Amino acid sequence: MDNVDALRAELLAEVEQAGTLDALEQVRITALGKKGRITERMKALGGLDPDARRAAGQTLNAVKDAVSEALEDRRAALGDAALNARLARERIDVSLPARPEARGRIHPITQTIDELTAIFCEMGFTVAEGPDIETDYYNFEALNFPPEHPARQDHDTFYLQPDAEGRRKVLRTHTSPVQVRTMETTTPPIRIIVPGRTFRSDHDATHSPMFHQVEGLVIDKKTHMGHLKGCLIDFCRAFFGIDDLPVRFRPSYFPFTEPSAEVDIGCSRKGGGLTIGAGDDWLEILGSGMVHPNVLRYAGIDPAEYQGFAFGMGIERIAMLKYGIPDLRPFYDTDLRWLRHYGFVPIAQPTVAGGL
Ligand code: DAH
Repeated sequence: MDNVDALRAELLAEVEQAGTLDALEQVRITALGKKGRITERMKALGGLDPDARRAAGQTLNAVKDAVSEALEDRRAALGDAALNARLARERIDVSLPARPEARGRIHPITQTIDELTAIFCEMGFTVAEGPDIETDYYNFEALNFPPEHPARQDHDTFYLQPDAEGRRKVLRTHTSPVQVRTMETTTPPIRIIVPGRTFRSDHDATHSPMFHQVEGLVIDKKTHMGHLKGCLIDFCRAFFGIDDLPVRFRPSYFPFTEPSAEVDIGCSRKGGGLTIGAGDDWLEILGSGMVHPNVLRYAGIDPAEYQGFAFGMGIERIAMLKYGIPDLRPFYDTDLRWLRHYGFVPIAQPTVAGGL
């Protein structure tokens, strides 16, 4: 009997010491497996006389039950511990910021397009697009540039190889062709802006052969110069974030508008730097005008019924002015140091309400 007690104590201690589910299984096999220590003793009972067999059988069964129960408890405990360890290991703190170390930056061009889109969409404009490769018709003719007109030369146009009929497509020199394309397919009222790439054969500190413009077009039955002025004054003040920013309209000439005006904003150059806002000087930032009746006619809109205004501006230029970027060339150098300096954090989407 003594050594049954000893066996019991020994097995229970082994169960307690098993540190893993595998080790515990080994303990089970040594105790209760086919050749286990309890099993072997059960087998040996057959050689005893009936009374002794019953007594020894009861004792052994009690040991077997105790060991089985201890195995069960230990298995449950080890299982819980394994699960808890795994949960602790795979723990994710969902309250942490998504990417605390975000290093990618939004390019100032993208940021500026997002900002002006937010402002104009707030005024009821939608965004339209057109192809980068244009026909002479949309880029010039339908915009009322007469053939051989000197204004065509001003555009430093990139021409593609002529087709079989000798017609040369162009890389669009401005976003204005999308005015005509939109009017051809849309029944007024129209209120669109067109941010996009434009191309001219020109390259220095303030010109790049590929650059960006945003075009605006409003067509309705009672649109007049007052609407043009109100819209652009509001835009300039919202974009530069200066409520009393002076905005000046200066007579100008574009073939596709009549009358035409260039728009200047107030600035000051005191102290060598350039500060945007009320000051003693002016900076030109965009071209605009009332859509020329010929352009409406080209696009299939009756100028006796509809009028409108249009405007266009260089995105790099307004980005450089707003964010104090001195040189145009690094915009396209993909220099990460420049982008980290002048770029914008991705999460901060510009909205009129939330700030630009
Ligand atoms: N397309 C002109 C340019 O590239 C800019 C422009 C001026 C657009 C006046 C307009 C406008 O829509 O009305 O220089």
